[in-house]
Amino acid sequence: MSGVPVYLETFGCQMNELDSELVRGQLMRLGYAFVDDPDQAQVVLFNTCSVREHAESKAYSRIGIVGKRKAQGEQVLLGVLGCMAERDGLDMLRRYPQVDVLCGPGELDRLPALLDAARRSEAASQVERVALAGNRTRRSAVLSAVQDDLETLDLSRAFDPDAEGRRKHSAQVRITRGCNKFCTYCVVPYTRGAEVHRPPDHVIEECKRLADAGAIEITLLGQTVNHYRYEHGMAVTVGGREAPQIGPGLAAFRSEIPAGKRVTTFARLLQRIHDEVPAIQRLRFVTSYPRDFGRDILEVMRDCPRICRYLHAPAQSGSDRILGLMNRGYTRAEYEAFVQGVFEVLPDATLAGDIIVGFPGETDADFEATCDLVRTLPFKNNFIFKYSPRPGTIAIDRFTDDVPDEVKRLRNNQLLALQTHTSERVHAAWVGRTVPVLVEECYAPSTAPSRTAGGVELRWESREAAPARKALRGRTPGDLIVAMDAPAGTAPESLIGHIVHAHITNASALLLHGACVPEAVAAR
Ligand code: SAH
Ligand code: SF4
Ligand code: F3S
Repeated sequence: MSGVPVYLETFGCQMNELDSELVRGQLMRLGYAFVDDPDQAQVVLFNTCSVREHAESKAYSRIGIVGKRKAQGEQVLLGVLGCMAERDGLDMLRRYPQVDVLCGPGELDRLPALLDAARRSEAASQVERVALAGNRTRRSAVLSAVQDDLETLDLSRAFDPDAEGRRKHSAQVRITRGCNKFCTYCVVPYTRGAEVHRPPDHVIEECKRLADAGAIEITLLGQTVNHYRYEHGMAVTVGGREAPQIGPGLAAFRSEIPAGKRVTTFARLLQRIHDEVPAIQRLRFVTSYPRDFGRDILEVMRDCPRICRYLHAPAQSGSDRILGLMNRGYTRAEYEAFVQGVFEVLPDATLAGDIIVGFPGETDADFEATCDLVRTLPFKNNFIFKYSPRPGTIAIDRFTDDVPDEVKRLRNNQLLALQTHTSERVHAAWVGRTVPVLVEECYAPSTAPSRTAGGVELRWESREAAPARKALRGRTPGDLIVAMDAPAGTAPESLIGHIVHAHITNASALLLHGACVPEAVAAR
């Protein structure tokens, strides 16, 4: 495999970004060489997302481009990985014959073998080129075998702090795979399979290794991360180690832990990582499910200074009727009570979320209820999505997608405008305070940041060549973006990956502006 150039492009969520990192490490160990230009690659891999139609069309257009290269006689091997591979399955091979390899998110440990088979022989049979879980992961008999292989992939990850293009100081660790929630609009329970929790010792081991390799920030990943729950003494793998474990079901959150059972709850896991991996200066987690978020978690967040007081807890809608149709499992009042509880225990917490507009049957009154939620609750930002009917989900079978696209678009824009006001209010409350900022990049101050905040795409060009004046950009523990001038007498680049302190002087809907507190830099 020595030196075979590979191009890997990732679509979708943080879970996919992590999967791509694991795939990259796995293939690099086998001698593949990663390149930034797909035209230079002999192997092109797309790690895809199915959550909305738009995400799929982007990937299909990339697949089309590779198809043209192949039609012109170029020798390129095309692999489609991730949720879209799992959702489309063999249908994709029928419609896009240029696809050589298909690998679902639950089968990524098998990718090298699939590539190998496809590279060795153009005529490799479908069985050798395709690895999909189907709904196998929901049949508990084979679950542990499938998940054990994946577990090896997570555990064998090579975190290379010097790898190009990666943010050295920041890493992600999966604690839960899959999802058991079945929100009616969502493909994830089908593409990622059943909820499976990783043994706490594995998670901690991975965090320690990442810290040893230079990470100071770790984000724990799970679709409903607060549902993490590991019951000890259940399943043991060969070698006496604990194995990943299927989630206990939602009822588990309505009862106490039974006497005599040893359970690692999400709160306990957070506490353990905080205490056992002190080199991690920022421990964060996404995505929180607004129900079953116990006070024990908030109390651990309050008592552990290195756990970020930041919650990404999507409301999805402010209308009880729509929440019901979505099968979200909570009412608006319950969501509001959850937020109230958060700020009671953590007054300086920040809150972010996701909202879907134009869900089937959403009336003006339903939409107004969502607007009201965005006006009244202190969301620092919300990602706002237009409902996209997804094949295979409950909603597409049960409800007509009856909100016209034009109405979805108007509601999206209206909500973005409201969110901008709310974001301004939330950001303004930080003016006058001094906050720790994890520095992420240097930029020329005339340009603007490159990430999406409140659903608005911003542009931020990092400049390699030194401009006359440089500024720094980073994030607070609450994930607020801070822009500040680099302190005099310090090479700004040297601060990337470090925590400095900034005094906040003014704020907008998207950014806090601050001045670096020099003694804090010196003391870091
Ligand atoms: N597990 C997370 C989110 C996973 S998907 C949670 O439950 O919050 C990320 C976001 O995509 C969701 O929060 C939802 O707002 C959005 N989304 C999912 N399916 C969608 C669909 N069919 N159409 C539009 N947005 C969707
Ligand atoms: Fe999808 Fe709901 Fe699971 Fe989130 S909780 S991944 S929205 S089914
Ligand atoms: Fe997309 Fe799959 Fe993530 S559908 S949002 S890549 S879990």
